[in-house]
Amino acid sequence: MARTGKVTVVGAGFYGSTTAQRLAEYDIFDEVVLTDIVEGKPEGLALDMNQSRPIEGFETKVTGQTTGTSGEGYEVIAGSRIVVITAGLPRKPGMSRMDLIGVNAKIVRSVTEQVVKHAPDAVLIVVSNPLDEMTALAANVSGFPAHRVMGQAGLLDTARFSYFVAERLGVPVGSVTTLTLGSHGDTMVPVPSACSVDGKPLADLLSAAEIEQLVARTRGGGGEIVALLKTGSAYYAPSAAAARMVRAVAEDAETVMPVCTWVDGEYGISGVYLGVEGEIGATGVERIVERDLTSAELAALRTAAEAVRAKQADVASL
Ligand code: NAI
Ligand code: 2OP
Repeated sequence: MARTGKVTVVGAGFYGSTTAQRLAEYDIFDEVVLTDIVEGKPEGLALDMNQSRPIEGFETKVTGQTTGTSGEGYEVIAGSRIVVITAGLPRKPGMSRMDLIGVNAKIVRSVTEQVVKHAPDAVLIVVSNPLDEMTALAANVSGFPAHRVMGQAGLLDTARFSYFVAERLGVPVGSVTTLTLGSHGDTMVPVPSACSVDGKPLADLLSAAEIEQLVARTRGGGGEIVALLKTGSAYYAPSAAAARMVRAVAEDAETVMPVCTWVDGEYGISGVYLGVEGEIGATGVERIVERDLTSAELAALRTAAEAVRAKQADVASL
């Protein structure tokens, strides 16, 4: 594929910088733009990434740009096909994602306003936490069609689940298929009926109690890493997930993956941003793919929808 187009990552912290690096190393874009409000940080990281190009052998140019709180510097994102919003505080040990809602809502609102002004045709991928609420807020503030705003969580949670299954069974990660839907939080919905190893149902390989242990570890997967790091949260697996979503849009791949998207009737759920499987292509989430769930999985998904619905309504005023 020829190198083409420009993508922007807003926020040059751990999540944003690793996402920009992955996108640049794909070597499919003309330019990756990285922005932050900390003076010099995005420029310094971009310079460092560009200096890795002769070693790694990629030609995508990385542009770093400090932006002001009133939007200074945002001209650099003009023409971006995709914008990833990673700006915002991460959790500290003991904090829930929801503890970030007030401060991150202000950040995501101001960033989204600038994206609308400077890259009005972009597909928006939100990663800032609390994820489901920040995605709903960005959608609301942008006024973009629902398919053009999505959040990253399900791909990460699913990858964590797959890794835990592979580790438990001592098999290659590539032989494992898992799925999580719902919210990026306490009401994450692992879907054991969609899980298999080399095509064999997971339920034939592990007891219900063993699967439940892995499910519980997946649900607490982000917190486990926050507790170990003591400052900041995970970014290698999260950035891999966001970068894959960007790539699916850029390549119009029509890949089906779990994403946070606007659900309007699927699974009997309406009017909420929620983690479901979406087909990702050039226009964003091109359609939601509904699968057969067990009655327990469907009930859990509906519970998750109601839990995030209330918070998403509150966030509109933040
Ligand atoms: P970090 O603290 O390393 O970086 C955040 C960056 O955002 C900082 O460089 C900060 O200066 C910047 N920033 C703050 N306000 C800004 C603004 N108005 N405009 C531009 N940049 C701004 O945090 P990290 O690890 O990069 O995490 C970023 C966010 O992603 C957090 O909210 C975290 O909770 C979330 N996250 C979400 C995951 C998911 O699966 N959805 C997984 C991991 C993290
Ligand atoms: C994670 O799941 C903290 O949301 C972040 O790693």
